[in-house]
Amino acid sequence: MWVTVAIIVVLVCLICGLSKRPRVLPPGPTSYPFIGNVGLFKPSEAPKAHRKLRKIYGDIYSLMIFYKPIIVVHGYHHIRELLAKHGDVFSERPKILPTVAIAKGKGLLWSSGPLWKEQRTFALTTMRKFGFGKRCLESQIMEEVDCLMDELEKYGQEAFDIQSILNTSVSNVICSLLFGKRFHYKDAQFTKLIRLLNEIVSTANASSIEFIFPWLRHLQLSDFRTRMEKTNEVTSFINEMIEDHRNNFDENNINDYIDAFLLEQKQRDNEINTFSDEQLVVSVRDFFGAGTETTSTTLRWALLYLIHYPQWQKILQKDIDDVIGQGQPKMEHRDKLPRVEAFILEIQRVADIVPMNLPHASGEDFVYEGHLFPKGVLVFCILDSVMSDPEAFPEPTKFKPERFLDDNGNCQGEQKNKLIPFSIGRRVCLGESLAKMELFLFFTRFLQKFEIKPEDPECLPSYTEGILGITYSPKPFKLRLLKR
Ligand code: HEM
Repeated sequence: MWVTVAIIVVLVCLICGLSKRPRVLPPGPTSYPFIGNVGLFKPSEAPKAHRKLRKIYGDIYSLMIFYKPIIVVHGYHHIRELLAKHGDVFSERPKILPTVAIAKGKGLLWSSGPLWKEQRTFALTTMRKFGFGKRCLESQIMEEVDCLMDELEKYGQEAFDIQSILNTSVSNVICSLLFGKRFHYKDAQFTKLIRLLNEIVSTANASSIEFIFPWLRHLQLSDFRTRMEKTNEVTSFINEMIEDHRNNFDENNINDYIDAFLLEQKQRDNEINTFSDEQLVVSVRDFFGAGTETTSTTLRWALLYLIHYPQWQKILQKDIDDVIGQGQPKMEHRDKLPRVEAFILEIQRVADIVPMNLPHASGEDFVYEGHLFPKGVLVFCILDSVMSDPEAFPEPTKFKPERFLDDNGNCQGEQKNKLIPFSIGRRVCLGESLAKMELFLFFTRFLQKFEIKPEDPECLPSYTEGILGITYSPKPFKLRLLKR
């Protein structure tokens, strides 16, 4: 009896002790026995809660989630210092649900260490060969944009939700690079996959307990199970695509990312390397997921703001008419359309589509400004803190594309450099150059072809509240696209 009591007391003391914030960590809110800071805010309200916590505890603070510490970093200066200057330390991913249970250390988004380094270099050089950041990709994107415009014209005056068709269209750009093919907007299997992707990204939340404690998946909580089933469906589709490529592989005819990976795999057959079959599946899935949801969500925010700011719609349309007329938009037009560029930048700022960034981890014990970042600690370098920073962007709650224009009307450098929607440092978004091209070409063509109108002029859809998952997206809304 006394032994049992003693064991219980020791266990309770141990658990309570573990949930106490070690002194060497950055300060933070009072950590309660056992739970630490669990329950301090709802995961779905994380960015708002962190804005408040920043006011109390400053730019760098820590939270205890049961026994696990998390360090939260705010502001352009600190994020740049950690992710860019000390990128060698902060380029790892922490051991959380997606790294441990979904990607299992493979792929591009959630991998770490030498595998990530080798695979990121391969992914970048391969995608560059297929046109990332180059003119040749431009015509491929424009083909897709024009298919979309033809499809949209069919709606006439009707109000409709553009999400599904826009997601499919944007996804087709990355599909052409990955699989060497595009899909029809009415392809039932493909549109289902795009819907599943959207559901996975919009319901997963990097601040949730199940994300932080991957072993909770063994409890088979319904949320995790459904998301896993959806992920498996996306994976099966990718497996089919890879199998198809394997069966038709011709090393003298390398058309897409899968072909390039299979060739690399063949050439390195005799050495220990990271080009495994599993790595191929997960990296293709990462590209497919990251390359679909993000750009189309940004475009949907842009359309929503155009509905709310018809005066900007007029200004931009006039600029586009003057510079391009009804001809095809090209990347070379961007410098001649500074107001279009400024509008897109301001959309990226206010839409703030990855507000929490993806989590990073410290690769070693590291001291920064007197605070210890212990090896492996989960670090959130919050991009929302940059987008809403009044020092970087005065009056941050106001929508002001002109903040990116100088006195001569040019899209200016300093403000632009402080805007980091793609993050910064060694893990900066791999698709940044593609995304920037897509945003400019899709957005410009929309304005060239259509007046963007609300479903009901008396009741505009909300642009101040969205849905927070891994990305922050607008609530579903309908619009009318009237041909110009
Ligand atoms: C507007 C569009 C986009 C935004 C705002 C965006 C944003 C981001 C952010 C914030 C990260 C995390 C960086 C970090 O961990 O510090 C990221 C990573 C990544 N993005 Fe994007 N992204 C966009 C489009 C794309 C596209 C089109 C692709 C694919 C072609 C892509 C592929 C990736 C990949 C593979 C990573 C993982 C990089 C790594 O961990 O090394 N993204 N993105």
